[in-house]
Order: sequence, then structure tokens, then C-alpha cells
Amino acid sequence: MITGKFPSLRLRRSRKNDWSRRLIEENSLSPNDFILPIFLIDGKNKKQSIKSMPGVYRYTIDKLGLIIDKAVKNKLPMVALFPYTNNKKKNSLGTESLNEDNLVCRGLRYIKKKYKNQIGVMCDVALDPYTSHGHDGLIRSNYVLNDETIEVLVNQSLLQAQMGCDVLAPSDMMDGRIGRIRNALDKNGYDLTQILSYAVKYASSFYGPFRDAVGSKGLLKGNKKNYQMDFRNTDEAIREVALDIKEGADMVMVKPGLPYLDIIKTIKKNFKIPVLAYQVSGEYSLFSHGINKGLIDKNVILESLISFKRSGANAIVSYYADRLNEILD
Ligand code: PBG
Repeated sequence: MITGKFPSLRLRRSRKNDWSRRLIEENSLSPNDFILPIFLIDGKNKKQSIKSMPGVYRYTIDKLGLIIDKAVKNKLPMVALFPYTNNKKKNSLGTESLNEDNLVCRGLRYIKKKYKNQIGVMCDVALDPYTSHGHDGLIRSNYVLNDETIEVLVNQSLLQAQMGCDVLAPSDMMDGRIGRIRNALDKNGYDLTQILSYAVKYASSFYGPFRDAVGSKGLLKGNKKNYQMDFRNTDEAIREVALDIKEGADMVMVKPGLPYLDIIKTIKKNFKIPVLAYQVSGEYSLFSHGINKGLIDKNVILESLISFKRSGANAIVSYYADRLNEILD
């Protein structure tokens, strides 16, 4: 494999100058590689900061233009919408998920009317922003029910597709939901709506700040280990992806990001389909707080984003995606 030997071969030769380093770079990032998550909140004229995620905000629908304008101008291919649902609208069945005037539906209508196809919009399919217990599905004796949950997810998917969602992203980890959602979409004339499956989603402590951002933090009873994956497992990730591809997933997500680069690489190698990485809230929070406190240089952001590319990810969901000018330069 090694072609040459010291001293005629000196790898540092090509590292000497910036132009030369640029010439031989193997991986790079552009705005095309990013999806920006956006948090929505009820009310008017608000851009509300999130304590656990410095630099990230919740937007009321009337202020959504602030951030979408920026995303369109910077040529981001897609944004992902997440609602901060008022506790009064939550119940054990998560019925607000099926309200056509919920935050996500209003956000979808606003963006698709104003920006048409200048930017893609992706929406989570899961019940956790809407349930009083904070779980992604319906529960009976502390167990998240699979098939009963899928019934609701299918309806949530159809509603979001009808409101203009381009990419449905089931993040719930129920078995068999991709096939059921694909089938329902096709039957109802949404055969071109894409599905990005959170096929490999680990039960992770890195989601903590996100639950704060969507307001499900204090509510969550127990943990999500009976549906999200055990972080000890790799083979199971391959099985999850294989199933979802058969059921009709267009793309798959690996989540969280940085602690799971090996999984991204394995999935890409085995399946040759678009694989996305989610740099989750905990990764964002640790970096941002560390940088703000002067503990670590802000270049750790670029370094970790490039690691996703190196591992084979096609794109990255990142809360930094609205500040790429500062990060990629
Ligand atoms: C909900 C969902 C979660 C995230 C995205 N969708 C949290 C969870 O499963 O508890 C986490 C994203 C992040 O941490 O940035 N199904």
C-alpha cells in the first residue's frame, strides 16, 4: 500500500504551504451538506433564546422569515421544523400532532407559500412534542405501543405531507412504520414526498438540551430504551437500515453524530444510500458552552463537521448551519 519510503518520500512536503494543503484535501464542506433545525413557538414577534443551547432560538411563525431568509440566501438545501408545544395542548394521546393548526403545520404553510421550492422542509414524525408523558408514542403500563402508535404516525405523516412537507422524518423507532407511512402516502397522491428514516437512533443522553428546547424535558417518564437502540450495538443498526430500505426509505439518519461515526461508515459501506448524520443538541451544547467559556477553540466545530464527511455522511443536521460563513472559512 505505501508507495515509497523515507527519505525520498516526505509526507510533510505537501503539508508545507496552504495552497498545497488545499490541493490535496480529501474532504470539504459546502452549504449543500447541511440541514438547519428550527424550533417554533406560539405567540407573536418572538425570537426566544434557549438557555441550554446558546445561539439557538425559538421563533414565532411571524418571525420565521428571519431565519428562513438566511437559510435560502446561504443556499441550505433544507430546514427541519420542531415545535415547542404549550403544555396545555399536550395529552397522553398526543392529539395536537393531528391538529392542522399546530405549530408545524402553520410553519409548513408559511414557508411553502413564501419560499415555494427554494428550500426543502423536513418534519419529524413522532409524538413526543405533543404527549404529556414525553414519549414518542402511545403508552400502556409504561410500554410504548408499536402498532397503535403507527396508526397515529400515519395520520401525522399524511397531514404534514398535505401541508407541504417535502421530507417526512419518522424519528420514533416503531417497527414497521416506514412501510405503513410509504403505503399511505402513495395511496393518497403523495408518492413524491420523501421519507428520511431515523433508522439508527440510539437511546442517548446527548438529546438532553433538545428536550429542553421543545419543552418535553421535565415531562419524560422513564427513558426511551424500549424503542430507541442500545448504544452497545452495531449489527442491529444494519438490520434496522435494511428493513427501512425495504419498506421504502429514501434516506437514513444516524443519530447522535460524533459518538457514532463508526456506524455512519458501516451503513454507508453496506448500503450505498444517502446517509445523514445528526449532530445533536448535546454535541452542540458541549461545544458552544466550551467555546463561550474559552475552554476550547471554535475550530472544534469544523473539525467535528468534517469528521462526518470523512465517515461517509452525505449531509449533516446541525444547529450551526445558520452560521456556516463563520465556521467554514
Ligand atoms: C424526537 C426527537 C429527539 C431529537 C430529534 N427528534 C429527541 C428524542 O428522541 O428524545 C433529538 C435531537 C437533538 O438532540 O438535537 N423524537
